[in-house]
Amino acid sequence: MRKPIIAGNWKMYKTAKEAKAFINESLPLMKNKDVDVVVFPPAIAIPAVAEALAGQELVKYGAQNVHWAAEGAYTGELSVGMLKDAGCAYALCGHSERRQYFGDTDDTVARRACAALAGGIIPVICVGESLEQREQGIALSVLAEQLAGSVAGIPAGQAENIVIAYEPVWAIGTGKTATAADAQEVIGFLRKELGKLFSDAVAEKIRILYGGSVKPGNIQELMSQLDIDGALVGGASLEAVSFADIVNYSNK
Ligand code: 13P
Repeated sequence: MRKPIIAGNWKMYKTAKEAKAFINESLPLMKNKDVDVVVFPPAIAIPAVAEALAGQELVKYGAQNVHWAAEGAYTGELSVGMLKDAGCAYALCGHSERRQYFGDTDDTVARRACAALAGGIIPVICVGESLEQREQGIALSVLAEQLAGSVAGIPAGQAENIVIAYEPVWAIGTGKTATAADAQEVIGFLRKELGKLFSDAVAEKIRILYGGSVKPGNIQELMSQLDIDGALVGGASLEAVSFADIVNYSNK
């Protein structure tokens, strides 16, 4: 059984002080022990989040990006070793905003993900099609190519530990969610593609999340789909009550 993940990507929101206040407010509200909960604060707020989360096991944290080199002249980047040192368990790789505004490509995403995995950090590898690609009817072929390129070099023996996040670009921050059935169709397709890239047995173990306007009101239907193993939440993860409500979704 794949354990679900409910993750909050805070993007460029929250100072260290605000991050700490969020953790202190949301922790007592989260009751669902059957999921892995992860928050992705801005890197500078990670130590504050680590301190606020100390002494509990439910919520883990990660970074919004990671570099492939162990160290070097890469201004503005953070290495796997630095993230480990800060207690990160996860790192986002290739979020669509990194691809769109900061030049990430399938190749750099794969390098980031491989380095993270090799260093003991779980990479959450993001893929998603644009509205134009969806309207042209090429979403699935675009996604297949993005997925293959973004997991290139991941050893099949370790691939079960990666996480994939399907975030259709047109659904991010727009209030437009893919219907649960549409998200299931794409995520089921991605699982088949992972089967071809690794093996069916490995693909069955890889957790695939949906992201794009996930809210307390739509999480339950999304989570009831066969292949959807969790959510990567943006806007609704910034507020303690709405994030806790999403964490506490019930499948019953
Ligand atoms: P929203 O939930 O705000 O649409 O953002 C989704 C996202 O990009 C999470 O990584």
